[in-house]
Amino acid sequence: MQGIQLLGMGKSLPARQVKNEDLTAYVDTSDEWIRTRTGIVTRYFSEQETHADLCVEAAKQALTNAGVKPEQIGLCIVATISADYATPSAACLVQTRLGLSGDIPAFDLNAACSGFIYALSVASSMMGNGSTSRPYALIIGAEQLTRMLNMQDRTTCILFGDGAAAAVIKASDSARFICRLGSQGDVSALNTPGLMREEQYIHMDGKAIFRFATRILSEGIELLEKESGVAAEDIDYIVCHQANRRIIEYVQRKEKLPKEKFYINLDHYGNTSGASIPLALADLMEQKKLPSGTRLFLVGFGSGLTWGAAYIEI
Ligand code: ACO
Repeated sequence: MQGIQLLGMGKSLPARQVKNEDLTAYVDTSDEWIRTRTGIVTRYFSEQETHADLCVEAAKQALTNAGVKPEQIGLCIVATISADYATPSAACLVQTRLGLSGDIPAFDLNAACSGFIYALSVASSMMGNGSTSRPYALIIGAEQLTRMLNMQDRTTCILFGDGAAAAVIKASDSARFICRLGSQGDVSALNTPGLMREEQYIHMDGKAIFRFATRILSEGIELLEKESGVAAEDIDYIVCHQANRRIIEYVQRKEKLPKEKFYINLDHYGNTSGASIPLALADLMEQKKLPSGTRLFLVGFGSGLTWGAAYIEI
């Protein structure tokens, strides 16, 4: 696979932070239940912000941090299931608002919570096969899941949040990138009815997702060890999709790995689907935890049921 280098990250969150206690105004729940069953403490809900606002702000920061100008971007992908329009894509809205060149591919990618890893894989292929005429790619993971939340359903409304994070990447011959993707064609475990349907809320079978997630995270880590030749113990951080602390801790115990290997920020953001893995990368970079030479495993799972596993070197 074409190697890729992560040059800069950016993130954007709505202004309104929602604590667990705030959710007791909508449903019969408690801070204690949410903390112990999920690990989530706060999340962000959009009020004034549009999905495109979140994308654009995250992208601006990523470009600044990477030292790259909009006109140098040769590809723009937004991993999302919750864009402002069914069409045009969020990527086209970003393109016009940032003044990206008019001759580059810009599109959205729907692989739910695995979307950012899918997007990295697509970008790596496109940069390697001559589809991009400029040196850098802008890859965004963004969600406004609150527009799909049934605030009367306590089994789902406590889990999700809004946010966006963006990465500026370039093709690299030295930084290795290995990625494996999959999907199982399952509609019932997690779905949101499409446009024009009467109600567009998230429906979820929490136990089915829990079983799938724990299996896929373990298998993903083992697959990446095999494909990269790097043992999980030697990886600096394993960044899993941030759905539930119990899912990650279950896998950490099963794989007999130290807790510190698993980066967790879902306590701040809840589950932000396509934004969750890039938000973790943005926070790691902001905290200066990704110096050159850092090696990461990324493992995502989501509606579909999709999964993605990637080994990246910084
Ligand atoms: N507050 C208080 N009580 C609640 C709440 C709530 N928010 N939600 C459910 N309960 C109650 C249930 O009604 C049930 O009560 P009962 O025993 O009287 O029937 C009890 O708590 C236990 O419910 P369970 O569903 O068995 O709780 P569980 O421990 O399985 O936790 C959860 C539920 C957190 C959803 C868990 O199954 C889970 O994490 N699954 C994974 C789902 C996930 O992460 N989804 C993210 C989206 S998918 C993705 O990102 C790919």
